[in-house]
Amino acid sequence: MCGIIGYKGSKNASEIVIEGLKKLEYRGYDSYGFAIKQNNSFEIIKEVGKIHKFNKELPKSNIAIAHTRWSTHGSVTKENAHPHVYNNIAIVHNGIIENYQELKNKLKNHEFKSETDTEVIAHLIGESNLPFEQAFKETIKQLDGTFAILAINKDSDQILAARKGSPLVIGIKDNDYFIASDIPAFLKHTNKVLFLEDDEIAVINDKIKISNIYTNKEIKRKPMEISWSIEEAEKNNYPHFMLKEIHEQADIIEKINQKRVLNNEILFSNLNLTENEIKNIKRIVLVACGTSWHSALIAEFMFEELLKIPTEVEYASEFRYRDPILDENTLVIPISQSGETADTLAALREAKSKGAKIVSLVNVHGSTIERESDSTIHLDAGPEIGVASTKAFTSQLTMLYYLTIYFGKVRNILPLQQIENRIRDIKLIPNLIRSILNNGKEVLECADKYYLKKNALYLGRGINFPIALEGALKLKEVSYIHAEGYPAAEMKHGPIALIDNEMPVFFIATKDNRTYKKVISNIEEVKARGGIIISIATIGDKEIRELSDFTMYIPETSYILTPILASIPMQLLAYYIAVKKECDVDQPRNLAKSCTVE
Ligand code: G6P
Repeated sequence: MCGIIGYKGSKNASEIVIEGLKKLEYRGYDSYGFAIKQNNSFEIIKEVGKIHKFNKELPKSNIAIAHTRWSTHGSVTKENAHPHVYNNIAIVHNGIIENYQELKNKLKNHEFKSETDTEVIAHLIGESNLPFEQAFKETIKQLDGTFAILAINKDSDQILAARKGSPLVIGIKDNDYFIASDIPAFLKHTNKVLFLEDDEIAVINDKIKISNIYTNKEIKRKPMEISWSIEEAEKNNYPHFMLKEIHEQADIIEKINQKRVLNNEILFSNLNLTENEIKNIKRIVLVACGTSWHSALIAEFMFEELLKIPTEVEYASEFRYRDPILDENTLVIPISQSGETADTLAALREAKSKGAKIVSLVNVHGSTIERESDSTIHLDAGPEIGVASTKAFTSQLTMLYYLTIYFGKVRNILPLQQIENRIRDIKLIPNLIRSILNNGKEVLECADKYYLKKNALYLGRGINFPIALEGALKLKEVSYIHAEGYPAAEMKHGPIALIDNEMPVFFIATKDNRTYKKVISNIEEVKARGGIIISIATIGDKEIRELSDFTMYIPETSYILTPILASIPMQLLAYYIAVKKECDVDQPRNLAKSCTVE
């Protein structure tokens, strides 16, 4: 995944694309580059490293394009950084051109300067005798794969853009046009946006013309206003986005509570499902990747336990390779923060082609997953910039909880009193999160004590097992400590062999009347083998403190809501350990915020 931005307008394009690229750094951060149009020439600047460190002044201009790279084809070098230039053309690209080799082979006697799949696009446009716009169109038609492409020409004042499978959004402020992979890149200037769809191209001149690449038909689309604020896309006074986003969670859930509940009624007015369709759901299949997959695992508990609907959770990347059995009574729920994850999108398409209904949970407005779903529930978490997902996760859990109660009411399976109690429970969550955040001392101490460890195990049972997975994922993502999550009882079938007095074992061991006692036995088993016991326990639980080397407490809540609270110390711990290890918290090595390649 990479980030691209272009600007054409009355302001200094160089400043705007530098600033915008810094906002897109979460999408790629190994190298970057700019093409600034100067009269009839380009100023091309490429660097290896992270864009936020860039502090040079670039020449003034009204047209520029820029790119921050997450390498796929070709190593991290200046030559491989975008823009790629050929003759009069400079381009930036996010995605993968699958037939690039074939296209290169056709371009006899062309000397390619990079190892990328992208450079061929500049050559194809640049060698054409057709006018710029037409050459661009003819080139785009030849490309297989995924792309969001911006192109400029030394002899023209246009920016041309095309998309297929990678996001591209145009910001509009009077006659100034911003075109980028994501809204935060230009949110400071405008919240009026137009989303480009697959197979569309945009010609940005003194105005915008959007048309379908194949039919040439002009597309009239009204800009929409996005409710995200500039503050949401800034660090404010936090040292990292991750910490800021962890701290935002209470307010976000509070806002979701306000939006979703009116007089004990759950509101899902935009859900494109009739009451009958909801009643007829025979099976639910959740598809997702990474952290979103963990929230799907928790949703499985919600749907099966409260709704009694058979539910399956699938890795989106594996789903379509199994020829899954689906029909019109299966509800498929893709969960994705970005709404652009290629595997989740492919799973959605597979499910759609087999006639299933699709209700997605997505954070980013206008995303591809949103556009291709029958309906979408927005997570309302605001822009998540830290690469390790935090606030999107707890928003997902909150929305899934509300969806469960809503379905429970429509399907007449949840008694009114239970609905009221469950609404009361979730309304308490924001303050409970605040209380965990205000008592962050324990987590800091824990990070201090164990940050030099090389490995860690995370164990939980029942609804806390996905939290064990998420805790381990957070730790490895940001601090590069090898960590594994397991169901606590599975430990004896293998991981127990790893336990010695160097191995921290995190137990998510909150009090319940299902598995708590069994988790205590698992703790004893680890203790007997010399492992270091770190517990996440319910406030007031003294027994567990006796057994543990370190204990972090969370307040009591209902079983189904425990994961929301238990995830907070897990996030904070990973964060503080990463900070102590001086890791790049917001942009961990090798990771991309959303993987738009399969
Ligand atoms: C990447 C990110 C993870 C994220 C996953 C799924 O791997 O690094 O943080 O959980 O993609 O992303 P999505 O946007 O689909 O939730």
